[in-house]
Amino acid sequence: VGQNFIKLKEVDSTNNYLKNLASNSEPLPEGTVIMADHQFAGRGQQESVWQTVPGENISASIYLKPSFLPLNKQFFLNMAVSLAVAEALSSFLPHPVKVKWPNDIYYNRKKLGGILIENTLTGSTIKSAVVGIGLNINQEEFTNDLAEKATSLYQILHKQVDLELVMAKIFVYMEKYYLNLKSERYSILQKSYLNRLLNFNTVATYLQNGQVFEGIIKGVEDSGLLIMEVDQETTTFNFKEIEYIH
Ligand code: BTN
Repeated sequence: VGQNFIKLKEVDSTNNYLKNLASNSEPLPEGTVIMADHQFAGRGQQESVWQTVPGENISASIYLKPSFLPLNKQFFLNMAVSLAVAEALSSFLPHPVKVKWPNDIYYNRKKLGGILIENTLTGSTIKSAVVGIGLNINQEEFTNDLAEKATSLYQILHKQVDLELVMAKIFVYMEKYYLNLKSERYSILQKSYLNRLLNFNTVATYLQNGQVFEGIIKGVEDSGLLIMEVDQETTTFNFKEIEYIH
């Protein structure tokens, strides 16, 4: 990962750029990375916009070809990537970085970054995956409603961190977890993921369709559904069906 490293000043979205590159210049080497100083149309989960301050944060995409991964194990790619990013960032921080289900990167109960994976399928296998990573690194302040929800390495450490140094760490851990995935170490990935999961096995407050309730995260299904205990009963939740409050 990162052997073929392309750095851009400005792009709409590194995910878009990498997808176009892959379709125009086949075969693109697996592990190719695009990183941009600035994205003017960065995309987040669920069709949201992902905005960053130019030059201060990481906006990067990694090209992978996990054709070995069965479709019903797709979520394990999310686990591997979240684990790699969380472990890489943890090496700069005093406490472990957490993953908020499904793949938000959290520290001090605030969002440090996010991941957007976009797969291309051929039949029932994943032909390629564009793994987009957005991390708040040297941003000093967040405006309005983000101030309470987001954090950055700078806010925690009170010093600037070299973006490419963080990227280099991410490459190391991406390789580690991608190899785990390749060698089908699903239970190890699952265990490590649950270990990193924010609120795993603890009572917390969630919101669903305007309703506030307490629940305990008990696990994650292979498909990625969240397993929760609510009122002594086990239920599963789909992506964005619920929101964590505190
Ligand atoms: C989220 O938490 O909503 C996911 C954010 C993902 C943002 C990254 S930045 C690099 C890559 N390119 C994009 O357009 N999005 C991802």
